[in-house]
Amino acid sequence: MSLDPDPESLRRFGHAAVDRIVDRLTGLTEHRVFSRPDPAHLAARLREPAPELGAGFHACLDRFFDEILPAATLVNHPRFFGWVPGPGSQIGALGAYLAAATNLFVGSWLGGASLAQLEVEVLRWLAAALGLPVETPGLFTSGGSLANLAALSAARARASARGAERFVVYLGDQAHGSNHKAARVIGVPVDAIRRVRTDSRQRIDPGDLARQLEADAGAGRVGAAIVTSLGTTSTGAIDPIDAIAAIADAAGAWLHVDGAYGAAAALLPERTDLRAALARADSITLDPHKWLYVPFECGCLLMRDLSALHAAFTTDGAYLQDIPRDAVNFFDRGPELSRGARALPVWFLLRAVGLDAVRTAIRDDLAHAQRAQDRLAADPRIRIVTERSLSVFTFDVAGDEARTRALLDALWADGTTMLSSSLVDGRFVLRFCVVNHRTTAAEIDRAVATILRLLD
Ligand SMILES: Cc1ncc(COP(=O)(O)O)c(C=O)c1O
Repeated sequence: MSLDPDPESLRRFGHAAVDRIVDRLTGLTEHRVFSRPDPAHLAARLREPAPELGAGFHACLDRFFDEILPAATLVNHPRFFGWVPGPGSQIGALGAYLAAATNLFVGSWLGGASLAQLEVEVLRWLAAALGLPVETPGLFTSGGSLANLAALSAARARASARGAERFVVYLGDQAHGSNHKAARVIGVPVDAIRRVRTDSRQRIDPGDLARQLEADAGAGRVGAAIVTSLGTTSTGAIDPIDAIAAIADAAGAWLHVDGAYGAAAALLPERTDLRAALARADSITLDPHKWLYVPFECGCLLMRDLSALHAAFTTDGAYLQDIPRDAVNFFDRGPELSRGARALPVWFLLRAVGLDAVRTAIRDDLAHAQRAQDRLAADPRIRIVTERSLSVFTFDVAGDEARTRALLDALWADGTTMLSSSLVDGRFVLRFCVVNHRTTAAEIDRAVATILRLLD
């Protein structure tokens, strides 16, 4: 068969693929969420010589649905509550398909002007919906990790432009690991990455931050970036961003808000606290492939002003001389040149479904997390360790680590409800995180019933 099948075959393939997806989604709740992966078993099942002659589209479709998908962890399943779920959405997925099928190039203005402009427009929608100035610029990335990397790159570029001799990054001890990784990748020595203490609610202690900034400032011309979390991954903790912003202002430091998990909650107009926090930031990471129900891979960075991002990433080459440099060239805003129409799935989702439906889904997720917490807390064997913050809470079994670990093992063996674990003040806890418009009150009750059944 050819790389581009004839029109009739292409229609049949497309219909067949959509039919399989629709069947799968209809029955999703009855599928296992998780099977403990066994590398040897998976290799035996999936390994085959690279085909010299193609097997045909239908053979691939069957193998994907019958052999590969059943062994996958379903992070879009209504009872997946581990880490931060990735619910995706079928409208967003159709946007992603259209982006791939038209193979639009949105690295530069000349490569894809209308799509580059669309990306600008979608960024404006998001900024306005989060209560930020509508002109807030940014870019879509492959995920939160790359958005954090771009933000720290911009922070360091601004510090260098201001004549800093050293660049120090301050991270709460609950910050997501991608921030530490980003600092290392851009060449910040590990001894210039400071861990800031958090309080009993896992939030940065502004006093400790101020003390560390002061000590570093006393040792020379230091440029600083402070990374705060609007929703830590472990417990959903929200740093006191207002107080930290005042410290950052006084120190001339860059303030980054990592909202990869939680910033989408600021779409809710009633969360004036979160919206006020975002308004203080120099840069904000959010992750449409988490709580905006967009399929992987879609992260987003919003910037107070673009110049530092340009300073970090601008690039040149004789082969780029035809490109108007005053237009929107995303290769000047981030590490990549070739990139597809990343905004298209978000645009499809928001334009077809609307912000109002997204807000309703977020409110439902919050309510479902609360329902799960209330139902579990009603059982005397369960101890809530951190109360729900955003849509995550943590718990253990009667303060007993062995019993808590045993419960996680039993859940993973059962495979019909997925939770993950973390540490809170060094104690082993289970996390329950709801980010999925397919999760209903009935799914929550089914998950809670499974947890309680597996307890003893
Ligand atoms: C708070 C936070 N920051 C950053 C990330 C990394 O985002 P991504 O996995 O999209 O790269 C995550 C992922 O869960 C996160 O929870």
